[in-house]
Amino acid sequence: MWMRTLLGLLSASLLASSASATILENGQLRLNPYPGQARPLNCGIDKAAWRTYEPDAEEISYKGRWDEKHISWWSAPGVKFAFTGQKLALSFGNHTVDGVLVAYRLGGQDWQFANVTANQSYQFVGPWTTGVNLTESTAKKTFELRPSPKMVEIIGDSLSAGQYATYEGISSWSYLFAAGLGNVEYHLTAYPGICLHDQNCWGNPRGQTYQWYHTSDTSSRATEIYGDNPPKWDFTSQQPADLVVINIGNNDYNVADKVSSTDFYNDYVKLVGDIHRIWPEAQIVLMSLWGGFGAIGDTYIQGPIFVNEIKNVYKFYQRKGAKFVHYFDTTGILQHNDIAPQWHPTDVGHIKVAAHLIQWVKLTLGWEMEATGPMVHSGTLYWNDQQNY
Ligand SMILES: *[C@@H]1O[C@H](CO)[C@@H](O)[C@H](O)[C@H]1NC(C)=O
Ligand SMILES: *[C@@H]1O[C@H](CO)[C@@H](O)[C@H](O)[C@H]1NC(C)=O
Ligand SMILES: *[C@@H]1O[C@H](CO)[C@@H](O)[C@H](O)[C@H]1NC(C)=O
Ligand SMILES: *[C@@H]1O[C@H](CO)[C@@H](O)[C@H](O)[C@H]1NC(C)=O
Repeated sequence: MWMRTLLGLLSASLLASSASATILENGQLRLNPYPGQARPLNCGIDKAAWRTYEPDAEEISYKGRWDEKHISWWSAPGVKFAFTGQKLALSFGNHTVDGVLVAYRLGGQDWQFANVTANQSYQFVGPWTTGVNLTESTAKKTFELRPSPKMVEIIGDSLSAGQYATYEGISSWSYLFAAGLGNVEYHLTAYPGICLHDQNCWGNPRGQTYQWYHTSDTSSRATEIYGDNPPKWDFTSQQPADLVVINIGNNDYNVADKVSSTDFYNDYVKLVGDIHRIWPEAQIVLMSLWGGFGAIGDTYIQGPIFVNEIKNVYKFYQRKGAKFVHYFDTTGILQHNDIAPQWHPTDVGHIKVAAHLIQWVKLTLGWEMEATGPMVHSGTLYWNDQQNY
């Protein structure tokens, strides 16, 4: 991390997606895909001109799962910190995925997007940055007081990681849900193609019944770094989750060697039990799997999957009197055109799932909706302000 001290207090956030991305819009290249593109510092860092911080600086707060080498994993991991001045640069290490999409912003302003590569430093903030001057005049009086935020954990696959959504993780229902609640921290332990059952699914060597207990995801990058012996995730290193939402099984159902109903049910029961042992105070939401939509005659019909299996997991815990287990039925939230050609929700589909779940959490668990202004949805601003058409 490289930062220069001048005036003013800004807080900055940065979230990274899991994969390199060309940003498309309905199959065509998106105009201006990276508003806020970071500027490479090709001559490296002039250490006399910049104040530098190592990745383990205590001022930096890491969001999501990071390992000891400060490599981030899973969906939309991030860093957050306050800094003074008008310039901010970050350098990316040698394990950075080439061309990876990152989102960043100052305070609660709109997310900006950039793509970056390994072994390279980039200036993200400079005098040109929108909003860079907004906090200066009040800087000396500013302090931040936060009620202790809640913690949300989402366990999922590509549907929760935002695969094929415009800005991937930042466009996913899981991010929109957690960020949309406001004043919560979140870990999105979701990875494209992963099964619940511990088997190879679409090239992911292990399922969530194994991988969720580990720091790294199931990417080839993880295999390169850790082989088949990834570090265990230290659950005591993070704030305990207050709410865990599980949306898993889409790949178990669709993989060539379909996971049996019995294996899926048993794995799911065990996962819920483990989560409860790890975080005894957490509410656990079993999200039904919306499946797909088939053209039948002159209309479309939804085909949810593993319905009985997930309901039976819920009933199993109801019989034990486990009031912390909830069932969230997604049936009817999405319609056929909320699913994009590659079987994943459109950006609008993600927003619908997030919006319904937020309302459900408010009504069922009594959480307040505390996001009251800063941008949550990015890249989905559609409007028509012409009067005479
Ligand atoms: C980054 O540097 C490492 C050596 O530290 C090298 O192995 C790797 O190929 C470099 N990556 C890129 C994209 O330049
Ligand atoms: C990658 O960077 C880290 C930290 O700078 C360094 O310790 C490590 O040797 C590098 N790896 C390679 C393959 O260059
Ligand atoms: C960022 O994306 C642009 C447009 O897709 C591409 O030309 C450029 O090479 C990418 N940069 C990096 C660092 O991947
Ligand atoms: C911020 O203030 C500086 C100094 O007055 C000015 O040069 C710069 O253009 C301003 N930046 C923006 C984005 O307004």
